[in-house]
Amino acid sequence: MKTIILHHPQAQATSTPVHIGEGMLIELHQFIEKLGNFDGFFILHDAAVKTVAKDIASHLQKAHLISVPSGEASKSLHEVERIASSLLALGATRQSLLLNVGGGMLTDLGGFVASMYMRGIGCVHIPTTLLGMVDASIGGKTGVDLGTVKNLLGAFHHPRAVIADIRLLSTLPDTQFCEGLVEVIKIAAMLDANFLEYIEKNMKKILAKESSVLLSCIEKAVSLKVQIVEEDERDQTKRLFLNFGHTIGHAVEAVSDFTISHGKAVSIGMIAEMQLADLKGVDRMKHLLEEINMPTVIPDTCKPQTLLRAMQSDKKVISRDLRIAVPREFGKGEIITLDEERFLRTYS
Ligand code: GLY
Repeated sequence: MKTIILHHPQAQATSTPVHIGEGMLIELHQFIEKLGNFDGFFILHDAAVKTVAKDIASHLQKAHLISVPSGEASKSLHEVERIASSLLALGATRQSLLLNVGGGMLTDLGGFVASMYMRGIGCVHIPTTLLGMVDASIGGKTGVDLGTVKNLLGAFHHPRAVIADIRLLSTLPDTQFCEGLVEVIKIAAMLDANFLEYIEKNMKKILAKESSVLLSCIEKAVSLKVQIVEEDERDQTKRLFLNFGHTIGHAVEAVSDFTISHGKAVSIGMIAEMQLADLKGVDRMKHLLEEINMPTVIPDTCKPQTLLRAMQSDKKVISRDLRIAVPREFGKGEIITLDEERFLRTYS
């Protein structure tokens, strides 16, 4: 097992250990004991991983389970209220620990509840998807959607620890696994050309979930993200690089009414954003994404004007200009600004 420490830039004295390994969930209580004394454990879990949540509960004393329906629709204020009411009814206090078990939707939602319940309680993320392990659970961003606007309401609230156990990935459906790979490819394309090459060379082993290669990929992606967050926690400079594919991707997700899932939308978004910026390397990127069966073309059902309106409600837009993060060359990300005319010309 490897532990990568994320030092919190806003509170120098605190940090989040990110434990990455295989099979260490059976020793969960040891990781929790190191975090301090808690008067109760509340396991918030995606309904799809109920068995995992029950297993986790069996390793802890005084553990309560709260289930959340799968799917983006659960990232809502309504769900926040329902969970907070359950926590209250079950007796959660400021000394309780919330364990968030699920993919990115669940850790975003659970992190947000933890940031607000009694003005903030501790939480631990136990991601059950690759996307959760390499991206959503790292860096303290939490939030819910408002209508179709993704993550409009949120807070920065770092988990006390992240436990990424790749054994949980063995039963993850292939499509969801590949959606997580999209985020791994994104971070490599923006920050580390050698890592991108490693992914290309080892794709078969990665798709076969070969432990040593998979662990190397997760460790590398997490350590790159940790460096970014330590340098720019609040999205002012380098953290914006992690939005590669997300400006158009979030709009595709919203306009499709979330029938196109996050990883697929980001895959489409990365190619569209590289094309808009006239960058070299589009074919290489397309090839890599097609190899993992991810879509690379904006579907006809997403009309350019509707996408533009969705992008203009996004947090990343400043004075109507579209700010996109793209790899100028692989491993060298940058932020560029595009006006809406350019977008409409290219996609109408
Ligand atoms: N998922 C993008 C970020 O954490 O900044």
